[in-house]
Amino acid sequence: YARQRFITIIPEIDIPGHSQALLAAYPQLGCIDSSYQVSRQWGVHKDILCPKEETFAFLEDVFTELMDIFPGKYIHIGGDEVPKDRWKASPFCQALIKKLGLKDEHELQSYFIRRIEKFLNSKGRAIIGWDEILEGGIAPNATIMSWHGENGGIAAAKEKHPVIMTPSAFLYFNFYQTKQGKAAEPLSNGNNFYIPLQKIYDYNPIPSVLTPDESKYILGPQGCLWTEYVASEERAENLTFPRVCALAEAAWTSLPKKNYTDFVNRLNSNVEHLRRMNIRFSEYYRLTN
Ligand code: ACM
Repeated sequence: YARQRFITIIPEIDIPGHSQALLAAYPQLGCIDSSYQVSRQWGVHKDILCPKEETFAFLEDVFTELMDIFPGKYIHIGGDEVPKDRWKASPFCQALIKKLGLKDEHELQSYFIRRIEKFLNSKGRAIIGWDEILEGGIAPNATIMSWHGENGGIAAAKEKHPVIMTPSAFLYFNFYQTKQGKAAEPLSNGNNFYIPLQKIYDYNPIPSVLTPDESKYILGPQGCLWTEYVASEERAENLTFPRVCALAEAAWTSLPKKNYTDFVNRLNSNVEHLRRMNIRFSEYYRLTN
């Protein structure tokens, strides 16, 4: 279905963090001798995967199955938000750090990601990881998704790695759309933080600090919609449209040609197109904040 529409779906299986549900089902892949519960709250959890041979064998099985389903070049392996508490306290992890001659737990994370990268590369696939995978040294062929602002993306481009820019303060569609925030909108992420349409429109995915050669590594921007507070398809569409129209123009239009007023004028006709497709969009584009 996606391919017929020239869309490539990139699946993400987030490792070694964001894995608590996996640990609830397979506690032997964790670092502590314990049972785990599927978390009832979103966020960052201390229980992460332990870099045991058993874990890598399990992950190779999972990624093999994933590659059967998704034919695209890229597999996203996550790599974000990995508290190191469990690895610091684990005699197994500390012995592994010594055995491999690593400096610390950040380098252990790089070892983890590199092993998975090597496996996926051997099957002809490439990995994407969040910017945290830079911390202990980047995997040789990885593409970086820069979400903590742009610094991770800038560092990766300078190291000649492809980059997808998705700085959360500009391109996280789960944040409020207006200054009024939760006083006017359904409960969402980010207490007083909001991203009005113009901020997305004005975003330039190519940081000015990069040279023309380094800029070639910026593949483009990405909008993210995390759904912890998104309870319906209608809400998802409302947070996404017409923001994604602004993002498309930000991606495809070079700076001197961008003009927000002109964009909003054209949007007035384009929303009729969205209406005909039964896409529910936010009316906030009419605001000037
Ligand atoms: C992320 O928002 N943790 C990628």
